Amino acid sequence: MDKLKITGGQTLKGEVQISGAKNAVLPILAATLLAPGISIIDNVPRLRDVNTLLQVLNAIGAKAAWSSDNQVTVDATEISNPTAPYELVKTMRASVLVLGPLLARIGQARVSLPGGCAIGARPVDQHIKGMRALGANIEILEGYIEAKAEKLTGTRFVSDMVTVTGTENLLMAAVLADGETILENAACEPEVVDLANMLNKMGAKITGIGTPRLEIQGVQQLKAVNYRTLPDRIEAGTYLVAAAATGGEVILRGIAIQLLEAVCEKLTESGAEITSGTENGVDFIKLKSSAKPQAVSIRTAPFPAFPTDMQAQFMALNCIANGAGVIVENIFENRFMHIPELIRMGAKIEFSANTATTTGGKLRGAPVMATDLRASAGLIIAALAAEGETIIDRIYHLDRGYEKIEEKLSILGAKVERIKANK
Ligand code: UD1
Repeated sequence: MDKLKITGGQTLKGEVQISGAKNAVLPILAATLLAPGISIIDNVPRLRDVNTLLQVLNAIGAKAAWSSDNQVTVDATEISNPTAPYELVKTMRASVLVLGPLLARIGQARVSLPGGCAIGARPVDQHIKGMRALGANIEILEGYIEAKAEKLTGTRFVSDMVTVTGTENLLMAAVLADGETILENAACEPEVVDLANMLNKMGAKITGIGTPRLEIQGVQQLKAVNYRTLPDRIEAGTYLVAAAATGGEVILRGIAIQLLEAVCEKLTESGAEITSGTENGVDFIKLKSSAKPQAVSIRTAPFPAFPTDMQAQFMALNCIANGAGVIVENIFENRFMHIPELIRMGAKIEFSANTATTTGGKLRGAPVMATDLRASAGLIIAALAAEGETIIDRIYHLDRGYEKIEEKLSILGAKVERIKANK
């Protein structure tokens, strides 16, 4: 398994281009299944998760492939085998996003039930409950969600909790259903908005986009489209925190501040100076850090509040900041796996259940283990801010979600090197 070697203590300075959003492109690629014909998706990040979804689409019978550097073409004319196999779903839970489009387009789907994962049990009961409310007949057989529906029928569905992929799956099922569907307590994340905008471009009739109440008038059919994915707010937030933690100064190109207001507010509270705007038609965010950051307190919650996907990165920042900070994780029950690793680097953190209290100090390089995607990002930030050398093991998690991370960090002046498994 590849490892990352980081020599800390470098100040991050310079400019970086933000890639397309992983969490937007996955539902967008799944949505191409809704219409026969060729869809072209741009601003697609070269990530392991994207490749996994392309494999799922190909297994189903669509022809999905990279057509240029950051462009994917999907020909979904034929769907010969509506099955998302366990081998693929177990490596990426978001594969479950093909359930809604398959049911809507051909009235059947067989999708492996995702198991638990490092950050929590993460059930998909709301996806299933919502599909049943739309008239699907669903059984769990041999570890698979076996779903059938002659025709989905519009309904009003109130989700028990705000779920991002749950909202996306139900949205994709409802666009071709008979009549009107109302999704209450829907997720308002920008990635859900991006998917809804793409669906409307395909001919869907969705209103209330970006609010917790989505109204969908079912249509008979949709058409394949060209669509450009929105930028990745979590990748952007990660580089901003990395700069703040190293006393740096960065400009992020291709991302608007509206996508990460809660994150930027916390960075400002920590002492960083943030400006944003548009230059030559391209959005930018600029961060100038303070001499020494101040610890911040955070409670994760659905958008527009502070995202759980930025929790580990701020935990790392707090570890080298002045003062104490309290971090409460409200979305996932086991998303503190980075804490024992940070403690190995000298962090002062006390935690129980979903609350962690950090006391600032110094970090020193150490061998550490990445446990999930965003925990890896937290460890990278800690390593960049630490004295000495850190070796991060199991960085395949990072390759799931950060495009060209060593290259981008190096452009900013970090000392980072990938150690290949066979070295
Ligand atoms: C998505 C994001 C992930 C992010 C998360 C929360 C993608 C591909 N991934 O994950 O990066 O961290 O949103 O912003 O977009 N839940 C249930 N039953 C369900 C569905 C969810 O109990 O049927 C629970 C989950 O266990 C979790 C909470 O609801 O505690 C929110 O999860 P959800 O929004 O569904 O996360 P994902 O869509 O899996």
